[in-house]
Amino acid sequence: MDPNTSGLAQKLAKAEQSHLLQFWDELSPEEQADLTHELQGMDFQEINGFFKNAMETSSGSKQEKMDTRMEPVPREVLGSVTRDRENVKVWELEGLHCISQNKVAVLLLAGGQGTRLGVSYPKGMYDVGLPSHKTLFQIQAERILKLQQLAEQKHKVKCCIPWYIMTSGRTMDSTKDFFSKHNYFGLGKDNVIFFQQGMLPAMDYSGKIILENKGKLSMAPDGNGGLYRALGTQGIVDHMEQRGVEFIHVYCVDNILVKVADPAFVGFCVQKGADCGAKVVEKTNPTEAVGVVCKVDGRYQVVEYSEITLATAEKRSADGRLMFNAGNVANHFFSFSFLKDIVQKYEPQLQHHVAQKKIPYVNAQGQLIKPDKPNGIKMEKFVFDIFQFAKTFVVFEVLREDEFSPLKNADSQDGKDTPTTARHSLMSLHHRWVLNAGGHFIDENGRRVPAIPSLKDGTDLPIKCEISPLVSYGGEGLEELVKAREFQPTLMINESGIHELVKNGV
Ligand code: UD1
Repeated sequence: MDPNTSGLAQKLAKAEQSHLLQFWDELSPEEQADLTHELQGMDFQEINGFFKNAMETSSGSKQEKMDTRMEPVPREVLGSVTRDRENVKVWELEGLHCISQNKVAVLLLAGGQGTRLGVSYPKGMYDVGLPSHKTLFQIQAERILKLQQLAEQKHKVKCCIPWYIMTSGRTMDSTKDFFSKHNYFGLGKDNVIFFQQGMLPAMDYSGKIILENKGKLSMAPDGNGGLYRALGTQGIVDHMEQRGVEFIHVYCVDNILVKVADPAFVGFCVQKGADCGAKVVEKTNPTEAVGVVCKVDGRYQVVEYSEITLATAEKRSADGRLMFNAGNVANHFFSFSFLKDIVQKYEPQLQHHVAQKKIPYVNAQGQLIKPDKPNGIKMEKFVFDIFQFAKTFVVFEVLREDEFSPLKNADSQDGKDTPTTARHSLMSLHHRWVLNAGGHFIDENGRRVPAIPSLKDGTDLPIKCEISPLVSYGGEGLEELVKAREFQPTLMINESGIHELVKNGV
């Protein structure tokens, strides 16, 4: 349909985005139809408004000022797995109780594009090379299954933890197919609920939408804070309400150690009467790419690693630790009523953050250009931007080696947050579980391997040991299997028993 007669050209002219039709006459009828469809579905006034606000809030002077307004998290809102050992048991029981009453749901943010990892498929489908070759999705699914089982055993009732999975236009089909192909990893199909977040166009610095080819806009997901809009538009809030969900654990797909629906975290937040909570690990390196939970103007917030200045990131307290050391591991707790309020009332107040990017584009001559320096912005909302609305906010501090090892980058020499580091973190945790449950490891000569393996010849290899989440969620229940026994790696413990895969050299 001709854009002039359909009103599309006028709509674009009004929004000063007429350049989007500059190659119209060169497009095939199908391409014209696709472009028309895409443009008709967009609200340009809103997008231009987002651009204006985002550019204003991200301007340098505001940034500097924010640093001066930051304060660390006060001690009284903190719970800690190390300092509050006795309470942790109580919190865990509380969390399991809530789970047994079907009050707890988990919500996975999986709409990212995994650009840094460099794979074309959703990150949750990644196999980091564990002996079992389980993907991140499978590991998480099995942790949910196990937790349901633990709650059922404890409370003698059937229960279920619904799993809401947010995908984007780019990851929806492949994610759904993957789950269906694997039979939802043993979870009930009705308890795995997929929904899709929105997309926004990339824009140049003057607010013009970028064309990725002659007939297509450069689009990207609107950030993991796109969650709140999607929860409303996709009917997820209603779904949760019908299910009687009262507490939600929201987390990111890439952390291989994630304790999905962690009963201790849930129980802690519930007992503190919190509407909103964040899990953190101690940040020890000022330049580590994690956001920090803190207060800004007296309100809780995460200041993202891309938004903090080095001077502030390097500030230290009197005890020598980083002043802003509450490293965000992207695990959040929300009460249902808080989430509902956010979706219904506060979502429009959330501002987009600006990421400057190198965005491939077609120039006026129709050539595809891949810039070598940033030429435009992507706008994203962040999942933690709602902390500011919390009435009772709490922070739960956990141990990095037990709970946080994200997969962000492809493998490389000395790489950080790679498939290798993720695999090693998981095996090292499971190795410790076996030792703590009274088991031992021996080498090929039958000699006991020291509990802290030496790192010889740069072959920094942990003991190969993997325990299926279907056997143990957090290290529990292993004594009867391993106590006073000796194992030669590779050790795998799964539903079918104990396997020593020595000869296979897996
Ligand atoms: C994120 C956190 C950061 C934290 C770090 C820990 C945010 C905004 N930042 O940073 O504070 O310290 O994890 O590992 O949460 N996603 C979507 N939709 C999108 C974009 C991302 O669902 O539009 C999902 C991704 O699939 C992923 C998660 O959000 O599960 C985090 O995205 P990523 O871009 O990897 O966040 P980081 O920058 O590493």
